[in-house]
Amino acid sequence: MGGYTLIEHASLASRNTLRVDARARLLAEIRDASKLPELLEFLAIRNGCVLPLGEGSNVLFTGDFDGTVVVMATRGVQVESDGDSARIAVAAGERWDDFVRWTLGQGYAGLENLILIPGTVGAAPIQNIGAYGCEVAEFVESVEAWDTREQRVVILDHATCAFGYRDSLFKREPGRYIVTAVRFLLPRNRPLRTDYAGIDEQLARMGVDKPAPFHVAEAVVHLRTKKLPDPAVIGNAGSFFKNPIVDAALAEALKREHPELAAWPQADGRSKLSAAWLIEAAGFKGLREGDAGISNRHALVLVNHGNATGPQLWALAQKVMAGVRKKFGVQLEPEPVVIGS
Ligand code: FAD
Ligand code: EPU
Repeated sequence: MGGYTLIEHASLASRNTLRVDARARLLAEIRDASKLPELLEFLAIRNGCVLPLGEGSNVLFTGDFDGTVVVMATRGVQVESDGDSARIAVAAGERWDDFVRWTLGQGYAGLENLILIPGTVGAAPIQNIGAYGCEVAEFVESVEAWDTREQRVVILDHATCAFGYRDSLFKREPGRYIVTAVRFLLPRNRPLRTDYAGIDEQLARMGVDKPAPFHVAEAVVHLRTKKLPDPAVIGNAGSFFKNPIVDAALAEALKREHPELAAWPQADGRSKLSAAWLIEAAGFKGLREGDAGISNRHALVLVNHGNATGPQLWALAQKVMAGVRKKFGVQLEPEPVVIGS
């Protein structure tokens, strides 16, 4: 069958950045999105459940996957430009960071703060990737997907995607949609966002006083490389926990007791707290249990020092959640999707 490749009992070890040794009953790598209906019809007969997977940089496998992992390996970028802005349709299998660098090279603005985030374009809307004060949602006009429930191609506009902090319709209805392309609307000019977490200071160190988007991108690359462990060196999935959003009373009580706790006020009166600070203050930063650990560079990052299994990593994550709950009364939530058997 053309347009895709099927592998039985496929190893997922090199397909997740936490480097967990899990397997899928079947893995389908798709190079032609128009073949999805035919493939899914075939799979429905063979195996019930389907898991879309990109580069595996935001998943934790706690067991083998008893179904079909669908990897969108489609490529392609289509641009409609009107001079001041462009509508850009990007195939799900394109690498996110390559796309960001391409937009900067073409003179488009907006994605500079989101440089160096691992993963595919198709996965970017799933958790509404964000960094350095920006979220991808701001630039997503619509998402094209295969709706496995209705068995048809759907175009979901921005509002329907229901984006939130590390959240979207896709995250709330796991397995329903297989994203085939994302349509972005990017301007040539827009105000730069440089006031977040050290960007201005880094631009000053670079000697830049009138920054262009590519200067901001260079500053963000510098900050990210310094702060976050590289999955090519040590297995990890970036932040393993979301920054918790708590009500004003709890935030105020915690701030009174711990004035150094970083907290960001939200539009609805609640506060987003720094999970990294809470985890570090609860004594977990740098902890290692066997090969499962909490990074000594950044307390939000769960790391695999070598041969940690999914259940071992998940047990350590749960220990951290229980410790933070006990010390601060705050419930942490994992950011990656935890996939069991
Ligand atoms: P995967 O991990 O393969 O999948 C993630 C989820 O998306 C799964 O639920 C999967 O089923 C679903 N999915 C994947 N592809 C599709 C598709 N085509 N259709 C439907 N569903 C799909 N994230 C941030 O937001 N900000 C950061 O700053 C950031 N920094 C990171 C740094 C490091 C070092 C690492 C390892 C990760 C970081 N992440 C960050 C997390 C990760 O990069 C993003 O979540 C990214 O979008 C995941 O892409 P992926 O292709 O690897 O998706
Ligand atoms: N901090 C600690 N201990 C640490 C690390 C950080 O106390 O070990 C404190 C810092 O002092 C700072 C605060 O935590 O005051 C925030 O740290 P940072 O700027 O690193 O941001 P973060 O909130 O930890 C979030 C995202 C990252 C994103 C960065 C930059 C979440 C869950 N994480 O991290 O996203 O890159 O901001 O914008 O929202 C990801 O989602 O995988 C990810 C890496």
